[in-house]
Amino acid sequence: MDSILVTGNGPLNGQIPIAGAKNACLTLMPATLLSEEPLTLTNAPRLSDIKTMTALLQSLGAEVSSLQDGQVLAMSSHDLTSQTADYEIVRKMRASNLVLGPLLARFGQAVVSLPGGCAIGARPMDLHVEGLEALGAEIELKDGYLHAKAPGGLKGAVHEMRFASVGATENIVMAATLAKGTTVLKNAAREPEIVDLVECLRKMGAQISGEGTSTVEIQGVDRLHGATHQVVTDRIELGTYMLAPAMCGGEVELLGGRMSLVESFAVKLDAAGVHVEETRHGLKVARKNGRVSAVDVVTEPFPGFPTDLQAQMMALMCTAEGTSVLEERIFENRFMHAPELVRMGANIEVHGGTATVTGVERLKGAPVMATDLRASVSLILAGMAAEGETTVSRVYHLDRGYEHVVRKLEGVGAKIERIKGQ
Ligand code: UD1
Repeated sequence: MDSILVTGNGPLNGQIPIAGAKNACLTLMPATLLSEEPLTLTNAPRLSDIKTMTALLQSLGAEVSSLQDGQVLAMSSHDLTSQTADYEIVRKMRASNLVLGPLLARFGQAVVSLPGGCAIGARPMDLHVEGLEALGAEIELKDGYLHAKAPGGLKGAVHEMRFASVGATENIVMAATLAKGTTVLKNAAREPEIVDLVECLRKMGAQISGEGTSTVEIQGVDRLHGATHQVVTDRIELGTYMLAPAMCGGEVELLGGRMSLVESFAVKLDAAGVHVEETRHGLKVARKNGRVSAVDVVTEPFPGFPTDLQAQMMALMCTAEGTSVLEERIFENRFMHAPELVRMGANIEVHGGTATVTGVERLKGAPVMATDLRASVSLILAGMAAEGETTVSRVYHLDRGYEHVVRKLEGVGAKIERIKGQ
């Protein structure tokens, strides 16, 4: 297994291009199942999660071609052969469940494996099921698979979600595009990836309004057609690399970044003493003097502070002046990076969903282990700001969500290399 060797060094300077959003791409790809005409995505990120979704769509009979070094995905669901998402693929990636709504809407049936346990919490699918049932689907759990059918087709309905789940919103919105009549989804999630999905669905002929607010209205249409869509910028990759100059000092411009994607995060960086400004080409981030100050963070659905930046923010707080409290409200068990950061000399106490971090002057390099996608990148950031060498093992997690991480960080002056495993 490969590992990453990071040697802590001084200020970073230069530019980092930000890729298309993994989480947007993972919901845009299943949208191809809604139409028999081709859907083409541009600005796709080159990640293993995208390969997993490609394999899943291909297992259903869809054609997926990866063009221009993986940045263009040309898909066609003209001749699908299966409506079953197998456990062997779903267990690798929870987002596989996003084929449920589209398959059900187009074919009146779908069989999708439950994702099973996940390192960052239980992550059930009850909110997806409740929403699709509100549209008239009959869903049964048998042998670990959700068996869904809608013999007379889905019908529009008014449905209020108990919690603004991102995935459930995406599944319900996609299903409702082909339902008979109007669906009003209340307490919908408002993430930019959902706005991006709706923009694509609209290009395919869907009639949707209210995306980006907590009430989304969908007028069902008989069929959707082909489209080409550019994937929105990855706000989590953006936020992650914004932390690089915040931790190491210097000034880095994140190309393609926009403030509207990371507003709540940028507010916290500003309070910590990190300068963020919008430029013509992206966002410029600088930390010119001294240590950052401790700030408290509570993770919340968008537009709140994203749970997917909590681990990276904790890495920053490890060397801040003062004590910060980080509260994780989206996932239980999402502090697995804390004991690894402690190995590097951090002072962190975890009680339930709250981590209290008292900053130390400088972290010290150590061998550490990546436990999930965001945890792994937080350890790389910590290693870049630490004294000496840090080896991060199990970096396959990283390949799920960060393309060319070594090249991008090297480009701004970090000392980082990938060591090939045996
Ligand atoms: C998406 C993102 C993930 C991010 C998360 C929260 C993708 C591919 N992944 O995941 O990176 O961390 O949003 O911003 O877009 N829940 C239920 N029942 C359900 C569904 C969810 O209880 O039916 C719970 C989950 O266990 C979790 C919380 O709701 O505690 C948030 O989950 P959700 O918003 O659905 O996240 P995902 O769509 O899985």
